[in-house]
Amino acid sequence: MLDLTYYMPTKMIYGPDCVKKNAALFPAYGKKCMIVSGKHSAKASGALDDVLAALKEYDIEWIQFDEVEQNPLLSTCKRAGDLARKESVDFIIGIGGGSPLDATKAVSVFAKHDIQDEEIYSRSYQNDHLPFLLIGTTAGTGSEVTPYAVITVDRDGRKKSVKDLFAEISFCDYRYTCSLSYDVTVATALDALSHCVEGYFCSKADTLSDLFAIQGIQLIFDVLTNAASDGSFTDKQKQKLYAASIYGGLVITKTGTSFCHSMGYFLTEEYQVAHGIACAVFMPEYLHRGFDYETKKADRLTYETDYTLGEMCSIIESFTDFQPFALPEAKRNALYELWKAADKFGSAPGEFTIEDAMEVLDRIFPIG
Ligand SMILES: [Fe+2]
Repeated sequence: MLDLTYYMPTKMIYGPDCVKKNAALFPAYGKKCMIVSGKHSAKASGALDDVLAALKEYDIEWIQFDEVEQNPLLSTCKRAGDLARKESVDFIIGIGGGSPLDATKAVSVFAKHDIQDEEIYSRSYQNDHLPFLLIGTTAGTGSEVTPYAVITVDRDGRKKSVKDLFAEISFCDYRYTCSLSYDVTVATALDALSHCVEGYFCSKADTLSDLFAIQGIQLIFDVLTNAASDGSFTDKQKQKLYAASIYGGLVITKTGTSFCHSMGYFLTEEYQVAHGIACAVFMPEYLHRGFDYETKKADRLTYETDYTLGEMCSIIESFTDFQPFALPEAKRNALYELWKAADKFGSAPGEFTIEDAMEVLDRIFPIG
């Protein structure tokens, strides 16, 4: 059945110099802001300088919180939010990859509400947070256009999503991604690919998300198959990857993610594997499942993109810099309990169960 139901209220402004060209939009959000970022990418990408020029032009006061770590902690977001409240800022600007952008969303809640860290998961804060603007500097997360903030809980080191937090405006300028290293470009591209692939084959997909997903998948495979042998990407290729990351964000805004993400999280949490690589470890299994259970959609994907299942899997594997290892039985059992309790697999193709998840895990990670 055709379905075009969709909710993504963020104003998305796309293209080179979009921050500079739209500086006049900033004063509508207030006279004082907090910039949330990590230590390096906001500055190195050129995005911070563009934002500061816009703030200066419109006489907007600012403070910066640049302590967001990779896989941001809830306590970090709470600390930034408390500071924003104490400093009476009117709005937040997040600059960076997925970590600073997701952190910004959580900070926007803590800046308005003096709550305990984990209370952020207790209810929806939709339209009940400080306004925030986002500026992405990687081509992976798509967080610019999603309502999700994936934040690590300090108590147990597990990633958990806060939902319903949309930016007022996302400024999407691919040139901020051009200074990224090859490794980061590949890992983030695999994250974006995973968003598109998981969304395409999951049960929450619809007509519109399928269009976004096919477009993103096509762009990413085309770039990866044409990557230079010296391990570099052209700016034109990075432009395509950035567009694909936005398509990926638009997909999961509708569908959410599926088992590549939920199963991949432990590799990041416990083995420090980059998020996109962790998802890619499980992606060939997910694609096989999609092709097994959603044959019409599989045929369409192959027809539209001109990549077969085998070609897609071998491209992913050739860019996934990861050696599976023997998983201690105690660790396997702990994952079983974790995934069983969380019931993370409902939307994967073919009524995927916890038993199916363990079979996937065992095929990739032999029991040690
Ligand atoms: Fe992701």
